[in-house]
Amino acid sequence: MTRATIIGTGMYVPSRVVTNEDLAARMETTDEWITERSGIKERRWLETDADGWTIETGSEMGAAAARQAIEAAGIETESIDQIIYATLNPDCFFPGNGVFIEDLLGLRNAGAMDIRNQCTGFIYGLAAADGFIRAGTAETVLVIGGEVQSTALDVSDRGRDMAVLFGDGAGAAVVQATEGERGILASVLHSQGRFAKDLWCEAPVGNRMERITPEMIKETRHYPKMDGRLVFKHATRRFCEAITEVLAKGGMNIEDLNLLIPHQANQRITDAVGQRMGLPPERVFSNIARYGNTTAATIPIAMAEAERQGRLKQGDIVVTVAFGSGFTWGANLIRW
Ligand code: UT7
Repeated sequence: MTRATIIGTGMYVPSRVVTNEDLAARMETTDEWITERSGIKERRWLETDADGWTIETGSEMGAAAARQAIEAAGIETESIDQIIYATLNPDCFFPGNGVFIEDLLGLRNAGAMDIRNQCTGFIYGLAAADGFIRAGTAETVLVIGGEVQSTALDVSDRGRDMAVLFGDGAGAAVVQATEGERGILASVLHSQGRFAKDLWCEAPVGNRMERITPEMIKETRHYPKMDGRLVFKHATRRFCEAITEVLAKGGMNIEDLNLLIPHQANQRITDAVGQRMGLPPERVFSNIARYGNTTAATIPIAMAEAERQGRLKQGDIVVTVAFGSGFTWGANLIRW
């Protein structure tokens, strides 16, 4: 049976470390508050030049992660026939980052598309790669989750609930058609648009709403806003539901699971999910203390780290799960 198998992973984070203390020097917050509420100790933010432009772009981070994944996979870059780039913050309003990757990697005619599903973007990306491969549309798919959050956050006291949580980074996976038991076994994807405004960034705005105006900027409507408690409550519930659903779709249950790779939103969410699912900490991956929430990049970064730490062995049953803006949520069941 032809399956879509992850044959290489990679990651890239900027070298600049921003600690909780660094943030406490800029806004009304403390290391104690951030650690207790989220488990985050530090995150990576891109360096900026004198004019405030980042010295690297999101797609350049994505390309660095991709090169690592391609090397780990041992494939020729030219064999990639489809790029899927998940991000909420592309380099420009359009085109998407997928085409920049196509150019940065020196590919000349691979398909390229972006997925705008925020924290759930990589889950949707793996599901799409699986679909392309099973349908015969593509043989080798590069799936990237990458995010530049630092330039889009309100780092004043007003935005402190969001600003302390998010970081920059990118992760990538090479997904290839293989025969055998390994591969993506099942995916579940969900959304509930009635909660769109509970975690969103209103501006730059879509064509059904007003155009961006100086007033919008004055009212800080170009910064992301979130009802943190509501998101927290829904996330914990939906993570558990999606894990159970995707395992059942693959004819498995929680005892079969070797490693859960959850979206790194908040250590308290990860702990609550692990507890509710009866998973001991060694079966739940976490690196949020070092990178914060890198949105679409948390899962591929976690995959790359878990693999290099020897926590992902061939044949292991792995579930990736995420919840985020939309609301959207979903999970992938993978035999590694
Ligand atoms: O990736 C998916 C998207 N995001 C998430 O999954 C995030 C989900 N939500 C959360 O992680 C949590 O709700 C937060 C970490 C954002 C906040 O934690 P919380 O325990 O829900 O705190 P809270 O919102 O109830 O706020 C408690 C207090 C408030 O003050 P008052 O109203 O009690 O006086 C906030 O104003 O903490 C205040 N606060 C802060 N204090 C210090 C909010 N942000 C900060 C801050 N530093 N950075």
